[in-house]
This record gives sequence, C-alpha cells and structure tokens, in this order.
Amino acid sequence: MKQIYLSRENIYNGNLILVNARYPYRDVAVPDMTSMDDCFPEILLKQEAAKALQSILKKISADGAIVPVSGYRSLEEQTEIFNSSLTENGEEFTRKYVALPNHSEHQTGLAIDLGLNQPEIDFIRPDFPYEGICNAFRKAAPDFGFVERYQKDKEKITGISQEPWHFRYVGYPHSKIMYEHRFSLEEYTDFLKSFRVHNKYAMDVFEIYYIPYSDISERKDVTALLPEHSAFRISGNNVDGLIVTERID
Ligand code: DAL
Ligand code: ZN
Repeated sequence: MKQIYLSRENIYNGNLILVNARYPYRDVAVPDMTSMDDCFPEILLKQEAAKALQSILKKISADGAIVPVSGYRSLEEQTEIFNSSLTENGEEFTRKYVALPNHSEHQTGLAIDLGLNQPEIDFIRPDFPYEGICNAFRKAAPDFGFVERYQKDKEKITGISQEPWHFRYVGYPHSKIMYEHRFSLEEYTDFLKSFRVHNKYAMDVFEIYYIPYSDISERKDVTALLPEHSAFRISGNNVDGLIVTERID
C-alpha cells in the first residue's frame, strides 16, 4: 500500500468541487487553462475539460454547429458580468442566471456555456435546444465527463434556473453516475458521503469513496491508503472532504 499525503487545501480543488451560493470557490490556481477552439482563443477551460469537450464535439460531428460562449472567468469578470446584468436585466433575472462573484463554476475553469451557432448569440442565455445537434451533445456529454449542470427540476437544489447551455466537467465515471441517477452536483456530493474506504461505490472498473475532513484533521496529514499499483484520482468536494476514485483493472 502507498500513503497519500493530503492537507485541508485538497478539499478545495479537483474536478468534483461543488461551487454554488453556499460554497464559494476557494482555490486560486489557474495554471493549466487552454482554449478548446482555435476560432475562440479567448475562451479557456482547464486542459482536461477542454480535451473532453473536443472529444464530444468530434464524436457527434458537430462541425462548427456548436460554439463556445463563455468558459473560464476570473473573479473580476464574474463581478463585471453580475453587475452589468443587474443594470441591464434587473435583480430577479440576474439571481436566476448569474452566480454571485466567487460563487460561479466558471471561475473553476471546469464550466462552459455553449450555443447553437447562429448570427445572434445571447451571452447570458445562449440558445441550446433539447433537439438536434445540441441534444446529441447533451446525450454524449456524460461519456466524456461533462454533465448538464442546471436542470429544470433541480432549481430549488442548485439555486439557479434551468440553463440548457451550461455544462460542467466532473470527469468520468462521475458524469455517467450523475446522468444515470439524475443527480445534480449537490445531490451527488451528498450521495457519495455514504461510501467510505470499507464500503466503496463500484461502477465498472471504478471504485469511489469519500474521506471526511474530520479524518484528515485527526490524522493531521495522511489519509488515503491506496494499493501500490492502482490508478486513482483525488478531488476535494469543496464542502467537507475528499473523493477518491480508484481504477481497479
Ligand atoms: N450562469 C451561471 C450560474 C454562472 O454565472 O456561473
Ligand atoms: Zn454558465
């Protein structure tokens, strides 16, 4: 077995961080941002998410029919978008469709707004219908790590109105599990808390479990003991602990 050293900071970064009105984005590192489309060099995502997005577009032969509208935003950009929407659209609209500064998934580099390629594209609410090429994207996304983040029947849970255009990278197999169970990220974060090192959640070649922050603080630094040759990922949940995803083949 090998020991993995973890600290409190690990809670705040990784593909599975939950960022919403209750849990602000607390990580600061933005080193691995990249553009996912040469035609839109200013629209950035974390590298892993950008690659996955390219794979989906290739898989569905989107051929330019879907365009990126908004990806990574700095705190300053999110503040600017929030304030200008307040002025232009009023408070009710803004609270439905624009996250408070420091509470936006766009600040993580793991979220992207996509639009159907057409002459007029609304920046805050791009058209991304539940049919045609956009729906083909929506259906393929969970196989590549992305989920539709703000669904209609989850508005009370997410605190954001339905956003058919906003996709969040959580990584595979989490995207697939969320899709199959119809979990919002809030629900998935809670769901995973029942699975611990001695009672892992199994899906295909993956085993997933949660390590609460209390375990980390008790042991001060080390928490995860993993088989010597296992492939694994660790992500914070941005709330109170970590998620370990092991690949067991
Ligand atoms: N439109 C989403 C909620 C954001 O501003 O992050
Ligand atoms: Zn968005």
